[in-house]
Parts: sequence; C-alpha cells; structure tokens
Amino acid sequence: MRPYSLAAYLVAPAVFLASSQAQLIPFFNKPSTSRQPDLNRQKRPIMDANAPNIQLPPSSSNDDTPSAPPQGDVILSDVIGNSRQINIFAGFTRDIASVATRLDASILNTTVLAPINSAISALPRKPWEDPRDYAELGASAYEGQGGSDRASRNLRRFTEAHVVPASPWKEGEKVKTLAGTELRWESRGGKAVIMPGDVEVERVMSRVANGEVWMLKGALNYAA
Ligand SMILES: *[C@@H]1O[C@H](CO)[C@@H](O)[C@H](O)[C@H]1NC(C)=O
Repeated sequence: MRPYSLAAYLVAPAVFLASSQAQLIPFFNKPSTSRQPDLNRQKRPIMDANAPNIQLPPSSSNDDTPSAPPQGDVILSDVIGNSRQINIFAGFTRDIASVATRLDASILNTTVLAPINSAISALPRKPWEDPRDYAELGASAYEGQGGSDRASRNLRRFTEAHVVPASPWKEGEKVKTLAGTELRWESRGGKAVIMPGDVEVERVMSRVANGEVWMLKGALNYAA
C-alpha cells in the first residue's frame, strides 16, 4: 500500500476510527509493536480515566494533583491509547519501536507531549513527509521500499521529538527529546507553554507510575 492510506487517515481520521491502530501506517515493514497483550494489565482499572482538567503540569510539590497521583503499576503504554483526542499520536507511539519501548519501560520516566488530533491533521505537511525528500526525489518520494523507509524515518523523528525522557519535568528545565531537540516549558497566564514554539499544554491527561501524558494544542517543530 502507499502512503496515501496514511494521508487519508490524517485528513479524515473519523473514517478510520473503527480500524485497528495497526492499520494506521500500513505501508511500514515492521510489525506495529512487539508488545504482546497483557491481559492482566488490560483488566486493571485505569485510575486516571476521570482525571480532572489539570491546568498546569505538576509543580514539584504535586499540590495540584490530589485526585490523580501516580500509583500502582499502571504505566504509559497502558494509558496512551485511552483518549480519542490524541489517538493519532498514540498510534505513532505504538508504531515507532524506540518510543513504544520507552513507554513500556517501567523504570524509565517519560513525559509524552501528545498533540491533539486536530493539530496533527492541520500540519502543513504530514508527519512522515519531508520537503527535502520531495525536492530530491519528486512526487514519488514515498513510493516503494525506499519510500517506506523514508516515511518511517520521518515519522520516527516527529514522534521522538514529542517524547521527553524525564518526569517530573520541572518548569524551566531544559531537556533533550528522544529526537535530540531541546525543550523547556514555562507557566504563562495559568497555562504551561512549551518552548521553543510557544505550544500550549491543554492539560495533563494521565499521570502514571513511569510518567505523564500532556495534551498539546499544537505540534512541536521537529525539523532536523
Ligand atoms: C519517576 O516518577 C515517579 C512518579 O512520579 C517519581 O516518584 C520518581 O521520583 C521519578 N523518578 C525519577 C528518576 O525521576
């Protein structure tokens, strides 16, 4: 299959909501995830399902999170797919092995910066597209095996640029994403804003044993 399938998904996500995440990126060679379903884990209650709208990422004191403390052994890979609002990005995290492994590692803390679906759909180019590929190879840049590899690489960079290998992540603390881009955040008018790019954090969606999922109003710049 061709990248068109993914393009269609990103343009009209609703069409694909019923299909499995594995079909999100059908043209990639690798199996979408190496993780086997863990029935025990899936049956565990997910305590953050009713998490309140938390305006700000946590302060160091965690005062603002009375109802959603990290607890138990629920981890990011359990909860990343829970919200429809970020299910495009959640699909990416499962398809990119480096990220899937990270979110499944209970001993490594991570802050996932998940752009809301509409932000990904609104990107001027798809996350797996790179203008340099088109400049070099023309319209067929993503066809064939080489095209799949290029798209896979680009999507990996996009996804890794939204994964901060630290949690708690304190205000002002400079961190390098898995893609190597440097980020920090500051509180501004009651909202957390990620820089560079001034991308607002809509809310903290999940807070689990190995980190947090923050929903972003926009996508971060991932240009290499
Ligand atoms: C990992 O996250 C947990 C839960 O928030 C926290 O208690 C712990 O200190 C963190 N570990 C590191 C190394 O940051």
